[in-house]
Amino acid sequence: MTQESHAAYPMPQLSERDFNSLAHFVTERLGIRMPRVKLLMVQSRLLRRLHELGLDTFSDYQDLLLNSQSAEQEQRHFFDLITTHKTDFYREPAHFDFLAQRILEKLPKGHLRLWSAGCSSGEEAYTLGMILADHSVCHPGFSYEILGTDVSQRILNAARDAIYPEEHVAPVPLAQRKRYLLRGKDSQAGMVRIAPELRQRVEFMRLNLMDPRFPLSAEMNVIFFRNVMIYFDRPTQARVLSGICRHLCPGGHLFISHTESILSSDLPLVQVAPSVFRKLA
Ligand SMILES: C[S@@+](CC[C@H](N)C(=O)[O-])C[C@H]1O[C@@H](n2cnc3c(N)ncnc32)[C@H](O)[C@@H]1O
Repeated sequence: MTQESHAAYPMPQLSERDFNSLAHFVTERLGIRMPRVKLLMVQSRLLRRLHELGLDTFSDYQDLLLNSQSAEQEQRHFFDLITTHKTDFYREPAHFDFLAQRILEKLPKGHLRLWSAGCSSGEEAYTLGMILADHSVCHPGFSYEILGTDVSQRILNAARDAIYPEEHVAPVPLAQRKRYLLRGKDSQAGMVRIAPELRQRVEFMRLNLMDPRFPLSAEMNVIFFRNVMIYFDRPTQARVLSGICRHLCPGGHLFISHTESILSSDLPLVQVAPSVFRKLA
C-alpha cells in the first residue's frame, strides 16, 4: 500500500475498550489470558479478517462476533485466529523417551489409549503414533488408539491433512522418516505427508477444554497436555487439570510441558519424572 492510499483508508485501530471486551470473551470461552500487552497481536491477527468481511472498524467486528445471527460461525473463525499453534515433532524429547522406555517397555501386550489434548496441527499426536506403531510391530499382542483434540477447527483440518514442510520433520529419526513419511512430488515437492497406515490410527476431534464435560468414550492411559495451560489463568488451570485427571485411568500417566507446573495438591497425582505424573490407583 502506498503512503497516499494509507492516508485515504486509515488502518482500523483496536481501541482499549474493544480489546478489553474481546479479551474478556476469549478468557470466558477459551480460558486464555489476554493481558493488555497482547493488544497489538490481537489487532494484527484480526485485521485480515476485518478486510475479508469488508468491515471498517473493530466495533463492527465485535457486533458481528457477539450479537449477529452468524455469531457462532464467526466465533469459530475468531478462535482459529486467536489461538497460538506453535508445535513440533518430538517437542521436549525426554517425554517420548520416558514413554518408550518406562511405559511401553512394561507393556508387551494389551491396549493403550493416548490423548494429545490441545494437539494443534498434529505433530505431537503423530510423534506418539510413530513410537506406538514401532512398539506394536515388535509386540503383536499390543494395540493402541490415539486421539488428538483442539478447539480450533482450522488447525484440526491441518492435523487431519497431515502435510508438513520437509524441514519440520527434521527431529524425526531417520528410520521413522523412512517408515512413516511420504515425500511429495511436483506441486507437493518440499512437503511430506504422514503415511496412511499411521493417519488411520490417529483420530482428531474438536473439544474445548473449558467445556464442563469432555465427550470421551473411555479413560485414557496416557495424556499429553503440554503447552496449553500456560495460556490459562490459575483457576482455569486447576479446573481443566481436574477434568483431565478424571479422564486418566488409575496408574495412567500425564505429561505436561517442562515450562508448566501443577500447583494444586488436591489432584490424585504423583510425580514420577520432571513434568510426568502418574495417577494414583
Ligand atoms: C501451543 S499449542 C500446543 C501444541 C502441542 N500440545 C505441543 O505441546 O506442541 C496450544 C494448542 O492449544 C489449543 N487450545 C487453546 N485453548 C484451548 C481450549 N480451551 N480447548 C482446547 N484447545 C485449546 C490451541 O488451539 C493450540 O492449538
